[in-house]
Amino acid sequence: MPTVFITGANRGLGLEFCRQYGEADWRILATCRDPQTAHELNSLTERYPNLSIHALDVADFSAIDRLADALAGEAIDVLLCNAGIFGDHDGIRFGSLDYERWLEAFVINASAPVKLAEAFLSQVKRSDRRLIVAMSTWYASIADNTDGGSIIYRSTKAGLNAAMKSLSIDLRDQGIGVLIMHPGWVPTDMGGPDAPIDRVDSIVGMRSVFDSFSLERHSGQFLDFEGSSVRW
Ligand SMILES: NC(=O)c1ccc[n+]([C@@H]2O[C@H](COP(=O)([O-])OP(=O)(O)OC[C@H]3O[C@@H](n4cnc5c(N)ncnc54)[C@H](OP(=O)(O)O)[C@@H]3O)[C@@H](O)[C@H]2O)c1
Repeated sequence: MPTVFITGANRGLGLEFCRQYGEADWRILATCRDPQTAHELNSLTERYPNLSIHALDVADFSAIDRLADALAGEAIDVLLCNAGIFGDHDGIRFGSLDYERWLEAFVINASAPVKLAEAFLSQVKRSDRRLIVAMSTWYASIADNTDGGSIIYRSTKAGLNAAMKSLSIDLRDQGIGVLIMHPGWVPTDMGGPDAPIDRVDSIVGMRSVFDSFSLERHSGQFLDFEGSSVRW
């Protein structure tokens, strides 16, 4: 039975990943900042006995190390770095940028996935699939940025992409693959109610991309939920 590790599992895309991997009979190491208030995630444990919940704020790198120690004996087939923030809330634009918020977003969106990969490397290495997934966004594409704005979100996710591309090269010799994903524009708290891509379809699509992953053909690619390339 394969194992997936998921950050930001309490709502949005992370929660739907848990539901679908539960249905598919995977072991799920679901992490979230506050398990006590993660009611929907907690209710999934009744249906999926292979789902366990672990407290993790991805901005707390000591906590990442402690969780990696606590889960030292695990084999993690898919390390899913899903947690993220938008950062550019109303009123934040050129001329009134919030630089503290920018740094906070950089830690959560760009550094934390790399820290997770470092901390959980031996667990990923021990697994059959050996795949690290970074949840990025089309907004990170510099080539497709025709609208401007969203400076915090765009730049921190572009930083994530650059770091993950390097990881895909640095880890290839160890047989570990890296995928950088755009889930589509999906209705979640972040995506908002008008997003056109169904949450279920987005996750079904991404799981299928992970299932057909090949180290030689795909590692280091920036793909959308249908498996198409996204321009850098
Ligand atoms: N929805 C879209 O259209 C869309 C499009 C492109 C990319 N994405 C990416 O997909 C990922 C998931 O997005 P979503 O739409 O599901 O967003 P969401 O509904 O806003 O959920 C974000 C998740 O990230 C968690 N998170 C934020 N900061 C955290 C931290 N410091 N430590 C641990 N968890 C933290 C949140 O936990 P709390 O509940 O504790 O805040 C929540 O579980 C993000 O990386 C996002 O950038 C989404």
